[in-house]
Amino acid sequence: MAKEKVILTGDRPTGKLHIGHYVGSLRRRVELQNSGEFDKIFIMIADAQALTDNADNPEKIRQNVIEVALDYLSAGLDPEKCNIFIQSAVPELTELAFYYMNLVTVSRVQRNPTVKTEIQMRNFEANIPTGFFCYPISQAADITLFHGTTVPAGEDQKPMIELTNEIVRRFNNIYGETLDECQILLPQTAACLRLPGTDGKAKMSKSLGNCIFLSDSAKELKTKVNSMYTDPEHIHIEQPGHLEGNTVFTYLDAFATDDDFVKFLPDYKNLQELKDHYTRGGLGDGTCKKFLLNVLNDRLEPIRNRRKELEKDIPAVYEVLKRGTEAAREVAAKTIAEVRHAMRIDYFDDKELIAEQAKRFAAQK
Ligand code: TRP
Repeated sequence: MAKEKVILTGDRPTGKLHIGHYVGSLRRRVELQNSGEFDKIFIMIADAQALTDNADNPEKIRQNVIEVALDYLSAGLDPEKCNIFIQSAVPELTELAFYYMNLVTVSRVQRNPTVKTEIQMRNFEANIPTGFFCYPISQAADITLFHGTTVPAGEDQKPMIELTNEIVRRFNNIYGETLDECQILLPQTAACLRLPGTDGKAKMSKSLGNCIFLSDSAKELKTKVNSMYTDPEHIHIEQPGHLEGNTVFTYLDAFATDDDFVKFLPDYKNLQELKDHYTRGGLGDGTCKKFLLNVLNDRLEPIRNRRKELEKDIPAVYEVLKRGTEAAREVAAKTIAEVRHAMRIDYFDDKELIAEQAKRFAAQK
């Protein structure tokens, strides 16, 4: 049998998802889900990972599990085609992570650039929770427990995937071929790789207050787009404008299609024409923002409307998570049995071991 193609990815439920998540990964997941190319798809709400740096605020995680689930479903993830599940409800993940910890050195984890940045951002330097320090190892368990082959995620997840594959090779080397290596699937364009905040800062992040959320109302969206950072030197329309660091154009890079021009700005054929005019001079920020607002609204309105529908039956959303978690646990149980067998710690299923030990002790008499 050819190896199955399995997607495993997820998000920490620390807040509602924003359009950075959308262009960075979520939009792609929906496309992959609908491509029919994958045998199985697992989307994980990583509450246990979120707790590694929110131990004192479990309520935040508890509140956001449902927000993320609503964002997933309204963005088009379909429970008929993928399993959305809750990380903490799959205890096999913890077990596997515990075995993996023996295959990774402390200094190896310390070299992880994403973890380094996160430690700085949280001012953790001297007080890193051990669980947080180890989360990249637990992430290797997340992926491999499901025999994940494809991980659609942002660039910041690259070091995790590298570590995962190192663990897989080491495990297979010591205990025999059991686990599969995986590949990250990065967003196709630079704009999608790291969407800046509306203020032009490097990253869209809730703590910086520069996010456009998938669940923002049309009114909130309008206010945010109108106040977006553009080119501070572009004061008069006639002046040539700059594209670099111009958030409106970065967002257009991530969202606008040629069809959008036909629909909302027929004076231009495509984004290149609009950019040319802007850099030549004679095109105002207002026109660009209005166009961006139309494009974003076109993408976000169906998501917003689906969310409204889903919000009417919240117990049904938890039911979706429960079913997804049950499906995940079935696969988890199977893999953990394979792992224990490979590690030769499946004592009660190991008839040979029991017979062998009986014989050894009998011989001592
Ligand atoms: N680290 C991811 C985030 O910060 C969440 C995550 C946990 C994840 N386990 C994963 C992503 C496995 C991809 C694969 O959002």
